[in-house]
Amino acid sequence: MAGVAAPVAGERVLEVGCGHGVLVDLLAAAGCDVVAVDRSPTMVAATTRRNAAAVAAGRVRAQAASLVDADLGTHPFDAVVCFDVRAFWTPPAPEWDVVARVLAPAGRVLVGFSVMRPGAEQDVAAAAEALAAPRGLRVTGVHRGATTPMPSAAVELRAGLTPRG
Ligand SMILES: C[S@@+](CC[C@H](N)C(=O)[O-])C[C@H]1O[C@@H](n2cnc3c(N)ncnc32)[C@H](O)[C@@H]1O
Repeated sequence: MAGVAAPVAGERVLEVGCGHGVLVDLLAAAGCDVVAVDRSPTMVAATTRRNAAAVAAGRVRAQAASLVDADLGTHPFDAVVCFDVRAFWTPPAPEWDVVARVLAPAGRVLVGFSVMRPGAEQDVAAAAEALAAPRGLRVTGVHRGATTPMPSAAVELRAGLTPRG
């Protein structure tokens, strides 16, 4: 997932549903400034522990909140990433309103997930696009990963494209 996200030092990245903070760790190690949100205080505590040095350095900020209630400031994000957060492909998905609001004009979104069954990539991509397109985001690629214990995939979306009519 971190490879697909292609983090560049200095970028501002928002991770939604950060869980234990593994991806946050990789993004911070790549030199990104990371805002990590998870509605579970337990997960945010785990992310904070795993990334203690980066939190202390001000390069990671972890927040216990649902995305729709999170304080994300006013500075746009170069990338928004999530892994195995079903809200991004399950209606009504108000999370996409937030993503559309905070993403930089040339920003990218990576919706990653574990591939639990054949064809899941296409189904998730179609479901995510159906929810994101009315907010001006379109699918620009589907990346597959030979991860263990199960394969994974990430749907990439970009902002600044004409919403579906
Ligand atoms: C299946 S876990 C995946 C955690 C982590 N991304 C990983 O891959 O290990 C999904 C996480 O997303 C969080 N989550 C789900 N919907 C959310 C939302 N709308 N806002 C913030 N966090 C959310 C849950 O609390 C949970 O920690």
